[in-house]
Amino acid sequence: MVHTGEEVLTPAWVVNSVGPLNGDIVVRGSKNAVTKHLVAAMLCPAISTVRNVPDIGDVDITVQMLQALGCDIQREGSDISVDAEGLDQSHVPMTFSGMNRIPILMLGPLLHRLGEAFVPLVGGDEIGARPVDFHVDALRRMGAEITLTSEGLEAKTTRLRGAHIELPYPSVGATETVLLAACRAEGRTVLDNGALEPEIIELALYLQRMGARIEMRPGRRYIIDGVDEMSGADHRLQGDRIEAFSYLVAGLITGGQVTVHGCSQDRLVTAISTLSGMGAQFDITDSSVSARADSLRPAAVETDTHPGFMTDWQSPMVALFTQCEGLSVMYETVFENRFTYVPALNKMGAQIETYNTPLGSVKGRFVGSSTPCSVVVRGGAPLSGTEVTVPDIRGGFAYVLAAASAEGTTTITGTHHLDRGYNRPIENFQSLGLDIERASVPSPAEV
Ligand code: EPU
Repeated sequence: MVHTGEEVLTPAWVVNSVGPLNGDIVVRGSKNAVTKHLVAAMLCPAISTVRNVPDIGDVDITVQMLQALGCDIQREGSDISVDAEGLDQSHVPMTFSGMNRIPILMLGPLLHRLGEAFVPLVGGDEIGARPVDFHVDALRRMGAEITLTSEGLEAKTTRLRGAHIELPYPSVGATETVLLAACRAEGRTVLDNGALEPEIIELALYLQRMGARIEMRPGRRYIIDGVDEMSGADHRLQGDRIEAFSYLVAGLITGGQVTVHGCSQDRLVTAISTLSGMGAQFDITDSSVSARADSLRPAAVETDTHPGFMTDWQSPMVALFTQCEGLSVMYETVFENRFTYVPALNKMGAQIETYNTPLGSVKGRFVGSSTPCSVVVRGGAPLSGTEVTVPDIRGGFAYVLAAASAEGTTTITGTHHLDRGYNRPIENFQSLGLDIERASVPSPAEV
């Protein structure tokens, strides 16, 4: 925020719809893989390199944390090298409290390298309570002594050892915590009900490249035999499937056609089949996916763990539903509070009703929760521009999509959420023809 005399200004994106968005987008490595690879580099006193790194706030935050711990970082274009030889600080500074969800993943590597660790409370999007109990329980089973303080988590151990861990739910972060902790633990770790998201498989492959002994078995089971030493590794990150889907929707919602390069078809399989079922037509090559539609039908979709329809695709999809004639349903099963962006879409003219009842077949995990888990969208109502404030990364992108299809000007504040997670979004949208620019506007704007 900037104070200019009496007026307080806040950063905003100002969007004017110009009709169909057309063109090509190259996506970089995914937000939800890059930071974990940087954490993996902490495991051994060597240099590890990650390539095709997106230009996003979450990477900057993670790099600063690694530097605070004593790692040397070299950035060259979209490549980052981490030299973890000098890692000698066991405390992630409190200044990183609440910034993202990465500190908790550092516990395992810090315990291996230094025998003790402190990480401040984790942050990230406010899309549910997002506890860290699975991470803590797993590390305790592996022999870590963990104390929860009002500021964060303190941990110590003489040596982490292998254990049998069964996650109550296939959590992405908790699976990563176990992989990162188990690969240098003493003995064998068996992880049941682990998550299988492509970004986790990518991390497991990177760890294998660093010398870890990781096996995957049917039925969500990982077997990790701890090794005494690991070495640095080099990896070019796979493309971000959340960005890829979101830009495909940008074309569809405006009646245009976007071709996404750099994210392979297999990462988008459920998204492609869902959009195909709604009437979208795809051109798919080994290196690109392109979508267009003459008209789109409504759909009923429920989010799920991989290979289901991912929760991070949910809000762009709901934005698209607003422009599909008829009734569509979205049932969110991963996070209990991921519809906070809905009031702003309704303010733009969308007709979306929220429900506390599961409108789908996946067993509800949040029965009795006061926050809605389902929405019904009456599609086809014209949207008009207004002032909206971003509640979380993916909800924020849904606002840009809605703004691109709305009449008039939309002013979006709270855009720091978007900058944390999207690679050069303004430049990308401008290349598709959208009239979008950064501005400073009087603060605060109301939803
Ligand atoms: N959960 C617990 N206890 C735990 C851990 C998780 O109850 O200790 C619950 C969560 O509250 C949630 C469910 O398990 O209801 C799944 O959470 P998960 O741990 O899988 O999510 P995460 O690791 O915190 C990552 C991504 C999210 C993405 C989810 C699901 C990162 C940094 N974040 O979060 O990405 O939605 O997996 O795929 O990797 C985003 O990019 O916008 C984003 C929120």
